[in-house]
Amino acid sequence: MPYNETLRSLKKIITTKDGSQTLYSSEFDECYHSTNDGALNETLQKHIIPAFTLVPKKDRLVILDICFGLGYNTLATIYYCKLHKISTKIDIISPEFDGALVQSLKDFVYPVEFDSLRPIIKQLSETFRYQDEQFSITILTGDARATLPNIKEKIDIIYQDAFSPKKNPLLWTKEYFTMLHKLCSDDAIMTTYSSATPVRMGMWESGFKLFIPPKSNVRSGTIATLGLLELESIDMELKLQRNPEAKSLKDSEYQ
Ligand SMILES: C[S@@+](CC[C@H](N)C(=O)[O-])C[C@H]1O[C@@H](n2cnc3c(N)ncnc32)[C@H](O)[C@@H]1O
Repeated sequence: MPYNETLRSLKKIITTKDGSQTLYSSEFDECYHSTNDGALNETLQKHIIPAFTLVPKKDRLVILDICFGLGYNTLATIYYCKLHKISTKIDIISPEFDGALVQSLKDFVYPVEFDSLRPIIKQLSETFRYQDEQFSITILTGDARATLPNIKEKIDIIYQDAFSPKKNPLLWTKEYFTMLHKLCSDDAIMTTYSSATPVRMGMWESGFKLFIPPKSNVRSGTIATLGLLELESIDMELKLQRNPEAKSLKDSEYQ
């Protein structure tokens, strides 16, 4: 079977609770989004809204979208900026090693909210790049662990949206978060759906400060930043006192 067909046969389309579609990956034995929270709803509530609410105002924002997948985070960023008439210049960099998936996205059925973004989706699926006066998008093909160190820009927002730590641990280790920390601007915001202690330990040990996300209609995760935020902070020293066994994931356990 050609590579594309083999790959597609490993994926199944799933309709999530808000009516938007996602995929199930049998390679990772996991869905690309929470079926209960809804693909579009989860994207907006866990990543885009908290990031844009908390990030300091700037003329230009550089966003790291880990990883591109179906592109919901990238597309919802554009949707959100257009909806709220945010004219900030936005550069999005997004690693993704499944090139065949990106190429197939021109045929994916997205929610109606993305209807006006069809030309962007088509161009991304053909060239892995998009640019207009406000937005630039670059999909970095290959393994994120290999492509991330080559990024020269300082990142303002990270959507940490990899498959779960159990299924894709190398995108959740202390060494991985140390790599992200080096890429961050002084007031960068990282959003993630994970509230697992080993994940929080890895973020904290690599220098991030941790906070409970603002209340929303989805399962809570973690907000990480280099600066301070007016949110409830997560006291990792206290957590460690209460649970001395708590530890981060380490590259050496998975390589
Ligand atoms: C949970 S999905 C991303 C969901 C995405 N935000 C979306 O809207 O669909 C995780 C993605 O990470 C990609 N991936 C997994 N490990 C990777 C790696 N080491 N480097 C690059 N991409 C990776 C998978 O191919 C998959 O597309």
